[in-house]
Amino acid sequence: MADANAGTETATAAGPAEEELAGAGLRLEVDGAVATVTLNRPERRNAMTFATWRGLAAIGRSLPEGVRVVVLRGAGPSFSAGIDLSMFSGGGEGFADGSDAAATDRFIAELQEGYTWLRRPDIVTVAAVHGHVIGGGFQLALACDIRVAADDVKFCMKEPALGLVPDLTGTKPLVEIVGIGRALELCLTARTVQAEEAARLGLAEIVVPRDGLDAAVGGLVESLLAVNPGAAVATKRLLWEAAENTLEQQCAAERREQIGRLRELFGK
Ligand code: CAA
Repeated sequence: MADANAGTETATAAGPAEEELAGAGLRLEVDGAVATVTLNRPERRNAMTFATWRGLAAIGRSLPEGVRVVVLRGAGPSFSAGIDLSMFSGGGEGFADGSDAAATDRFIAELQEGYTWLRRPDIVTVAAVHGHVIGGGFQLALACDIRVAADDVKFCMKEPALGLVPDLTGTKPLVEIVGIGRALELCLTARTVQAEEAARLGLAEIVVPRDGLDAAVGGLVESLLAVNPGAAVATKRLLWEAAENTLEQQCAAERREQIGRLRELFGK
């Protein structure tokens, strides 16, 4: 849910300070109904630390009320090279090593909060991806509603190759998008998927030349904002429910949402 105290024009009023975000490798810009989150450690290919994931969660918690679209992008040559590998060599802050299962579970759950808010029905989230989109970066793109990719994109789910599983919410959307067989093949070979295949598999809804990425995202955002806000929220909620519901449940959900729309449009 959006912060109950939100509603000001400044994104960071109730949320993380700009310097805090900068330290986490993030930049947030809010322009009216559009928030843009930039992964901003280009010299490290936007490798992500625990601070990055906590920063993303904090952005989600403090998003101003009027924001309807959130764009995630990466600065420099790549969207993200995934987890900052220096953390494996002890260079990062407190790594949960799994010896205390309950503590490790809480630790990972907190990091996952950096991703789960992107599914909230009150916003539409767009990943604008280019270059390498690896591991935790790939999962971040998968956490978004829509992916727009540049034709130089290279998706890779690297975790199993490093002895890990993808644990930043990515396994469910990956299976939903490409199916279990392809998801297994991609994860267990950790192979790279390039633009043409990504479009074919549905990992990217739109693929454009690298120098057209910003314009394509801008056009998409404009179209998304042109839709009635209440209808957008209700439709997103409905579509995400569809995968879990039976046909009967989904028909009921459609009726329920439509009653809400009719009341708003024509109610007295
Ligand atoms: N962590 C830390 N530093 C990284 C990094 C990472 N994941 N990826 C790149 N960098 C650093 C490089 O060390 C290099 O630093 P220096 O300039 O000091 O040498 C700098 O960023 C630029 O990298 P490259 O010179 O390698 O750039 P490139 O364009 O030739 O290659 C790349 C880019 C293919 C992404 C390559 O850097 C690479 O393979 N990086 C590692 C990717 C990886 O294995 N990530 C882990 C995924 S698993 C995961 O994400 C798990 C999880 O969430 C739980």
